[in-house]
Amino acid sequence: MKAPVRVAVTGAAGQIGYALLFRIAAGDMLGKDQPVILHLLEITPALPALQGVVMELNDCAFPTLAGVVATDDVNVAFKDVDYALLVGARPRGPGMERKDLLEANGAIFGPQGKALNDHAKRDVKVLVVGNPANTNALIAQQNAPDLDPKCFTAMVRLDHNRALSQLAEKTGKHTTQIKKVTIWGNHSSTQYPDLHHATVDGKPALNLVDQAWYENDFIPTVQQRGAAIIKARGASSAASAASAAIDHMRTWALGTEEGDWVSMGIPSDGSYGIAPGVIYGYPVTVKDGKYAIVQGLEIGDFSRARMDATDKELREERGGVEHLFAKK
Ligand code: NAD
Ligand code: LMR
Repeated sequence: MKAPVRVAVTGAAGQIGYALLFRIAAGDMLGKDQPVILHLLEITPALPALQGVVMELNDCAFPTLAGVVATDDVNVAFKDVDYALLVGARPRGPGMERKDLLEANGAIFGPQGKALNDHAKRDVKVLVVGNPANTNALIAQQNAPDLDPKCFTAMVRLDHNRALSQLAEKTGKHTTQIKKVTIWGNHSSTQYPDLHHATVDGKPALNLVDQAWYENDFIPTVQQRGAAIIKARGASSAASAASAAIDHMRTWALGTEEGDWVSMGIPSDGSYGIAPGVIYGYPVTVKDGKYAIVQGLEIGDFSRARMDATDKELREERGGVEHLFAKK
């Protein structure tokens, strides 16, 4: 067994939290040889419910659970953490767009960014799940001037997994036979699920499906999947979101597979003509705990227009929250 690492999860008594904590504690995120100390943050009224979750975590007697800290103090929650999954936020209801949550949730991520800045490990890996995830990640990052901006990422892995699943179903193959799918941009209905570089069983994906399906079925289905789940369940996705969060962190910690990539919302460095600084979904490979944007992909007019539309939305969201950034 390795030395334990500290993993913070906010919104730990919420529905994603309930689907997430037990898998992290069981070693699904960082490996069966990596003990974790969970740091669970909740708002004060949710602390009794959180205590129940802590009792259940202890009752599982997981070999990889080395301790639990449960608190409503953000400074305690982020003390010395190696990983932070920022889940706690208000989810959207039927008929809302994720950006309708900007004001309500934006105020949460500034103080959390500052607390990470003041207390977390200097190479902390932060994943923002709470919506609107990309712009919340930017708010947190902009309140953490002493941390590397690349410490802050947003989750588009759920969209990536949804794209794998839709394409697998259409082609009659398993998701494991699909490589090089990309989610460009925002975790919102402007996201662009791109199959131009994807392969199914080694063959170009777009040779196996017709353009009408790609354009009129696949893309809107992936873009609207969150809303479809809210409509069907009466609550936003939870187990699949938790699973994607685990995938995102596991890949970031342990690396991508040879010959494949994943999609991560990361600070744009201007690659592919995207506005520098926005937290944008890119195809990335990961090695030794560091992610790198896949470079040199050919981008046609179809993709360009869609990549720019989601960039525009992210720039607009950024414009609406700049008052929440720490003064430089
Ligand atoms: P939930 O309402 O069940 O749980 C949220 C929890 O966060 C609650 O227990 C609440 O008390 C807590 N919380 C609120 N403010 C907090 C704060 N300041 N600090 C700590 N905890 C706080 O919601 P959920 O279904 O678990 O969803 C959480 C978030 O994840 C929502 O914003 C939702 O839209 C988002 N989400 C994102 C994705 C994605 O792909 N990025 C997918 C699904 C859901
Ligand atoms: C999702 O994609 O399922 C989540 O972001 C929840 C939502 O609001 O769509």
